[in-house]
Amino acid sequence: MPSVGERTGTPHVEFSGVSKSYDGRNWVVRDLDLAVHKGEFLTMLGPSGSGKTTCLMMLAGFETPASGTIHINGVPVGDLPPHKRDIGVVFQNYALFPHMTVSGNLAFPLEVRGLNPSQRRERVARTLHLVRLEGLEDRRIGQLSGGQQQRVAIARALVFDPELVLMDEPLGALDRRLREEMQYEIRRIQRTLGITVVYVTHDQQEAMVMSDRVAVFRGGSIEQIASPEMLYEEPERAFVAHFIGENNRLNGVVRTVGDGVCQVEVGDALIKAVSLGQCPPGAAATVVVRPERVKLSPSKSEHAYANEFDADVEDITFIGDHLRLRLKLCGHSGFIVKIPNLVGHGAILEGDRIRVGWTLLDCRALQPDDEGVH
Ligand SMILES: Nc1ncnc2c1ncn2[C@@H]1O[C@H](COP(=O)(O)OP(=O)(O)O)[C@@H](O)[C@H]1O
Ligand SMILES: [Mg+2]
Repeated sequence: MPSVGERTGTPHVEFSGVSKSYDGRNWVVRDLDLAVHKGEFLTMLGPSGSGKTTCLMMLAGFETPASGTIHINGVPVGDLPPHKRDIGVVFQNYALFPHMTVSGNLAFPLEVRGLNPSQRRERVARTLHLVRLEGLEDRRIGQLSGGQQQRVAIARALVFDPELVLMDEPLGALDRRLREEMQYEIRRIQRTLGITVVYVTHDQQEAMVMSDRVAVFRGGSIEQIASPEMLYEEPERAFVAHFIGENNRLNGVVRTVGDGVCQVEVGDALIKAVSLGQCPPGAAATVVVRPERVKLSPSKSEHAYANEFDADVEDITFIGDHLRLRLKLCGHSGFIVKIPNLVGHGAILEGDRIRVGWTLLDCRALQPDDEGVH
């Protein structure tokens, strides 16, 4: 069975060559292509200012692209005002009516759409049940907790049965525990209803937990779009390798390339890495290795470790469930290794010289990041 991200057929949402500038000089979205499939939970993830909200505003119809087109269900929506797009929105600054009751807030979009009072009552009750707020219909918004208010905002976006819902950092104001609970709730609701959600966050963990696919934004373009697992395991850009989870990055020069494998000279060592064809011999490359994929003292019989080096232990930090080692290796300081805090993890001390190794598949050679996030 193909995964959600690989479905064929007309995408639910499609950006084609979309660009946007607010001042006619600086492009905040650049020639963006993106297809979102029906029933998919797609997250736009990226640092602040990377153009995520602008994309969502263009999709909702509150901003107009300078060029390019947006299609919803195969229909170009350029001339369609927001209220005709039938999209539910939950924006951080899209406030509820504080003086009105929960029911009042939910009935409002239904009234606008011309539903009669009994239809409105039925829809409001059904939606309150979905977001688990039964019994609070007569409360005023000001009498609810932050988490309850957020549920009302989500309910209001869902109450008129849209097939497409946009959410822009909807959990930003909540504390960590509530945020985690709501992440789960939003995912449950999305699956229950089978709706398409385009979600915006700058929190990579939130994106990983919730999404079928994640589009990693940077400077108005998508660096990579893939499932959370693929982004973590097979980053194609140094920026993505850095932004999703933690990675060691070693800068060097490619010496040989062949058969999907290259050798990169880093300090006085040669590192064997998966080559994506981005860096020819003689070119600079950034080698990335996850801290949890580094094996301590690989035994001589374990030929799996294509890369083996001596390393000096600079620092050890006790984190609880794991120990965090900073090593000096291949001439680079600050190489991080995580070791699970298991019985007998070994008595390593600062200043020790140890041997470490990692496999070829756990090591990728990528084009160095042009903006120098090292
Ligand atoms: N209404 C606006 N007028 C002018 N500049 C804007 C406006 N909205 C956003 N920008 C600018 O566009 C860029 C992208 O912003 P935004 O889409 O909000 O990014 P993100 O949501 O990823 O943080 C930023 O440099 C921001 O300052
Ligand atoms: Mg934003």
